[in-house]
Amino acid sequence: MKKKLLSIVLAVAMVATMLVGCGGGASASNKVGVAMPTKDLQRWNQDGANMKAELEAAGYEVDLQYAANDIAMQVSQIENMINSGCKALVIACIDGDSLGTVLELAKEKNIPVIAYDRLIMNSDAVSYYATFDNYMVGTLQGQYIKDTLDLDNAEGPFNIELTTGDPGDNNARFFFGGAMDVLQPYIDAGKLVVKSGQVSFEEVATANWATDAAQARMDAIIAANYADGTTLHACMCSNDSTALGVANALEANYEGEWPIITGQDCDIASVKNILAGKQSMSIFKDTRTLASQVVKMVDAIMKGTEAPINDTETYDNGTGIIPSFLCEPVFADINNYKELLIESGYYTEDQLQ
Ligand code: BGC
Repeated sequence: MKKKLLSIVLAVAMVATMLVGCGGGASASNKVGVAMPTKDLQRWNQDGANMKAELEAAGYEVDLQYAANDIAMQVSQIENMINSGCKALVIACIDGDSLGTVLELAKEKNIPVIAYDRLIMNSDAVSYYATFDNYMVGTLQGQYIKDTLDLDNAEGPFNIELTTGDPGDNNARFFFGGAMDVLQPYIDAGKLVVKSGQVSFEEVATANWATDAAQARMDAIIAANYADGTTLHACMCSNDSTALGVANALEANYEGEWPIITGQDCDIASVKNILAGKQSMSIFKDTRTLASQVVKMVDAIMKGTEAPINDTETYDNGTGIIPSFLCEPVFADINNYKELLIESGYYTEDQLQ
């Protein structure tokens, strides 16, 4: 009788241990897949590292993958995450339109998907979206140019060239749209002149946001429009990797007064350019904030509670509005970079030398 009682107690204890093991801590049933686009750009390394550290601190196991900007590689990484038992997926896609098929598989297995920074288009498997306010990124860039050239008061006209990002990245249209909503009235009024004539999104896009592609396009623009000493007053660049390409082209082939150049991400190379007077501003999107927000979303989903969101109208991915959390971007320049980037612990002074 005593023996029977003992084995019942043991069995109950084993079941209890199993239940506790499933409920918290890093067990196989707690694995979260994090798919990042590329290691080429500094920001995605920070995003990935922050996500991994924060998810692990919250007790999750993490499968973090980078796809070298190769769409097929990202698809197969996500497939592996699904087949190896990940219970949630966090994805910063390379191409917004290329994940529909693989995400069908996630949906079949009831694996929730969070689109990270970039919206995944035309898939009803996407549960949530967390990003920075991408339209605001663009308006901050446009506003910076408007204020610095004092477009409402100065006589002008001023010459400007435009460079944006990858056509497969839904964000690029928000950045460009936001900037153009500020700048277009001045182009229409003739106060801003785009000498290259390249003003449509398609004309000013940069495949893969690649620095060398932005540089090659700017080389051609300079040769055709500014080689005779004409002043270029401003370059609206949607992010730092394109701003870097534009600055490289100007450095090599342009003799005139240095233009205002905008950017985004506060990548170290661009912050160094800001300190050297070769880039005017960048948008600071603190990747720590975004990662924390996404960890809160993952945790809520895994625990079956409400995920935090603050926007239910902006981001339609073609299957309907995706509930979103938008973090706030701010601009950084020579005057506030210390407070934003160094005092906040984002970079050390040494990293910017
Ligand atoms: C991100 C930017 C980044 C760009 C290139 C965009 O989707 O929002 O921060 O500069 O991709 O990687």
